[in-house]
Amino acid sequence: MRLKPIWHSLNKMRKVPCIKSERLVLKPHGIDYLDSTHVYSSDLSNTLYMIHLPNQNKEETRDFLENVSKEWEKEVPDFYEFAILLGDVHIGSVCLYLDESHETGELGWILNKHYWHHGYAFEAAATMKTFAISIGLKRLIAHCDDQNVASYKVMEKLGMKLVSMTKGRYNKASKEESKERMYQLILE
Ligand SMILES: CC(C)(COP(=O)(O)OP(=O)(O)OC[C@H]1O[C@@H](n2cnc3c(N)ncnc32)[C@H](O)[C@@H]1OP(=O)(O)O)[C@@H](O)C(=O)NCCC(=O)NCCS
Repeated sequence: MRLKPIWHSLNKMRKVPCIKSERLVLKPHGIDYLDSTHVYSSDLSNTLYMIHLPNQNKEETRDFLENVSKEWEKEVPDFYEFAILLGDVHIGSVCLYLDESHETGELGWILNKHYWHHGYAFEAAATMKTFAISIGLKRLIAHCDDQNVASYKVMEKLGMKLVSMTKGRYNKASKEESKERMYQLILE
């Protein structure tokens, strides 16, 4: 049985379950995590290869989180943003943005730089892969800057394959054009 109807009815009742993995808990992201989200999303060294970050001020982070919270209230969300918790500490986020058909989901991730290199991004991403299967997705994709080795290593470890490398990427922190990698994984 697929989890989709259960998930959606739980969501409607605003009792969205958190998802546990070996060391982490994924919870619906939102305004409760404003300060901890702003720390990493406004830090240039934490967001060097990102198109929409760094944020210039806390209002930008607040707007983002308010938008995320509204999406969690929908019966059938178009995207899912999860806060990643290590014990009681909010260390980052992982997300899944669906296409129009709700068959393909785009994965994304960011961790506070103090928590890099412990396998947390992979653990959260692997949990999202299971979640994606549970809501009936057929394909996962992910994009990153060609220089963002840490990000594409997470993709490769998930079993995703490189499908394209294109010019024309502009990260927010840089005026220089860079190349973008796209990976995909067909879900069984
Ligand atoms: C991308 C990011 C989430 C990875 O987080 P992380 O928790 O350090 O990654 P993990 O520890 O799960 O590592 C997964 C794999 O990638 C490898 N890896 C991680 N960082 C690496 C780096 N800088 N260089 C080379 N390999 C790296 C790990 O060794 C591991 O592979 P292994 O198990 O075979 O050794 C983190 O670097 C980050 O938040 N970056 C800034 C935000 C960002 O760029 N997000 C992506 C936007 S597209």
